[in-house]
Amino acid sequence: MNAPILRTKNELLAFINKLDSRQDLGLVPTMGALHNGHKSLIQASIQDNPHTIVSIFVNPTQFAPNEDLSTYPRSLEQDYALCDELGVSAVFAPSVEEMYPSAQGAGALCDSALDEVRLLPPKSMGYVLEGFARPTHFAGVLQVVLKLFMLTRANNAYFGQKDAQQLLLIKRMVRDLCLPICIHGCPIVRDEFGLALSSRNAYLSDEERVQALRLHQALESIKQAYNQGITAAKELQNIGIKVLNNMDIEYLEIIDENLALIEDLRQGGGACIVVLVVRVGRVRLLDNLWLEPN
Ligand code: PAF
Repeated sequence: MNAPILRTKNELLAFINKLDSRQDLGLVPTMGALHNGHKSLIQASIQDNPHTIVSIFVNPTQFAPNEDLSTYPRSLEQDYALCDELGVSAVFAPSVEEMYPSAQGAGALCDSALDEVRLLPPKSMGYVLEGFARPTHFAGVLQVVLKLFMLTRANNAYFGQKDAQQLLLIKRMVRDLCLPICIHGCPIVRDEFGLALSSRNAYLSDEERVQALRLHQALESIKQAYNQGITAAKELQNIGIKVLNNMDIEYLEIIDENLALIEDLRQGGGACIVVLVVRVGRVRLLDNLWLEPN
């Protein structure tokens, strides 16, 4: 089986037009550097849909000028081999100019790529937590994800729960803009020691990798305490902070699906999410824990 690599919007449209429109199409949007977390999203899509498209595009508009756009890990050949082996229908790997027509000839990230009709995330969701640290990030994510939804006309799209805020914002965009697509959040995949998989783990030294394991340990102790009946957010936070002892914690909060802070986990009806960001070396490590009401 040889999945085609589609480089342009026209190639993508021609490919989609040949599919049976009565059959479901799954989309797995990625920025490449695929790991087992992505693999689980692709497998979920392949299981649910007769056709799956994986997009691989390092999206410049979700990086701030001081961030790692130019050094972000890129491994298209390897990524393609994995997608093909898993049995995807096609890989969509466009250039920046293809995705951002105003950037024609302007190279990687440029002001003209941002000079487009833009989507703004809701204030209450897009500028807190990750959005506080990266205020332009989610507008860029929504911009590219909406383009991918429109271009592929997929029925189902798959995102990791690892980027909890991104997942919740994409769900909100779909709800608010009445987009005809179903969003699936897939569980975090961890390495054998418990570290949540992320393409940016490649930046960690061996020593930092060991320190990074404490994030999962902190979340596990919070889960244990919650299962034993502790529901006050402050108490649960303190349990986590104790395990993270001396680490550079950026935030450890407990939120609901609208990203509102929860004071007591008995208060909400839906999922409660413990979100955690810790700086280890030059990496901001994100991890989280989804707790269903007891
Ligand atoms: O999660 C990611 O890899 C990216 O933010 C996404 C959703 C592919 C948009 O560029």
